[in-house]
Amino acid sequence: MDRILITGGQPLSGTIQISGAKNAALPLMTCGLLTDDRLTLTNVAKLADLATMAELLAQHGLDIFRDGRTLSLGGRITNTEAPYDIVRKMRASILVLGPLLARTREARVSLPGGCAIGTRPVDLHLKGLEAMGAVIKLDGGYIDATAPTGLHGANIVFPFVSVGATENLLMAAALATGVTTLKNAAREPEISDLAACLIAMGAKIEGAGTDSITIEGVKTLHGAQHDILPDRIETGTYACAAAITGGRIFLQNARIETLGAVITSLAEAGIEITEQDNGFWVNRKNGLHGIDVTTEPFPGFPTDMQAQFMALMSVAEGASMVTETIFENRFMHVPELNRMGARINAVGASAIIRGVPHLSGAPVMATDLRASVSLVLAGLAAKGETTISRVYHLDRGYESVEQKLAACGAKIERI
Ligand code: EPZ
Repeated sequence: MDRILITGGQPLSGTIQISGAKNAALPLMTCGLLTDDRLTLTNVAKLADLATMAELLAQHGLDIFRDGRTLSLGGRITNTEAPYDIVRKMRASILVLGPLLARTREARVSLPGGCAIGTRPVDLHLKGLEAMGAVIKLDGGYIDATAPTGLHGANIVFPFVSVGATENLLMAAALATGVTTLKNAAREPEISDLAACLIAMGAKIEGAGTDSITIEGVKTLHGAQHDILPDRIETGTYACAAAITGGRIFLQNARIETLGAVITSLAEAGIEITEQDNGFWVNRKNGLHGIDVTTEPFPGFPTDMQAQFMALMSVAEGASMVTETIFENRFMHVPELNRMGARINAVGASAIIRGVPHLSGAPVMATDLRASVSLVLAGLAAKGETTISRVYHLDRGYESVEQKLAACGAKIERI
């Protein structure tokens, strides 16, 4: 079982290349099910989650090959079942449901089950597909879905924002008969990126990136080439790495407009952000002040940045409050950060952080993807050595994390 060893205390400086977004690549790969033509995706990061998605799509019948950062998907659907042993490894597998139903009028997809951060039901996905004419039964832990007369357009209003449900229904609606409207849709940049790819494949979509999306179904979609947008959460994570170590880093290829409230929160905490060419500088020139953040759907402060920002706030001057409104159990990094000397008190959906002068290295354990990277950030700033176990969580969403940080002066290695 890999572990990561960090000797903290070095201010980071240099350039970090931002990779293609994991949470865009996952739905974009399922678009390969929407056509028998070849779909080519570029700027595809090398991540464990994307390998799992490729394994899932291959067992549906697609032929997939990767050449560096280019992924090419083609071939016909030969199997409409998504098995538990793959789905349980990666919840985003649920995103094959809409495309399978839209193309073959049937799908048998294992219920993803919960994960460390919450129960993560998929009721909005299922209700939306039923509104489009799907007949769905839950049987033995599987979703048994059919669309005997094909999917038809529907007017869907989400009771709350769901990224995955918006993506599943966007893809299903692209091939449904008639017009579908998605109200209270997710506005994340990954949705806009998915819509751009679907439009390149011949879909008719208006309003992606707003909370109201209209899709006019077409009969077939054709192949396309699509360049995946840079990962905004990786960007925000390394911005916090510069901030927590008192360093100065250039985030190459980062798109500042996809970071929403992360930029305003970092600036409010005293971090200097300077745009330049195809990226931006993050520089901690003066102090770091405690500020309050509440996670919200885009363009609010992203839940996927909550753990990283909490690590940063643990060494800020003064107190801060972090409130998590998206997931019900996303504070598992708190006890681990406290073992490193942080003073965090989590009560319900909020955590009070009282800044300390410095953290101290310690053996800690990763529990989920973003919690594990918050421990890396804490280790970079802490005095002494930190060893992080269960780093397979990290590899799901961060490409070459040791190499990118070591290139900026961090003392970090995998043992
Ligand atoms: C996506 O998950 C991301 N994953 C998550 O990133 C991210 O945290 C989340 O969106 C919110 O931004 C991918 O894109 C692969 P949701 P998703 O549907 O789509 C509840 C990471 O670290 N809900 O927006 O599953 C749900 O339980 C991962 O990269 C229902 O109740 O998130 C959650 O509390 C973690 N019923 C809230 O809504 C549903 O049918 C938001 O979930 C769907 C969701």
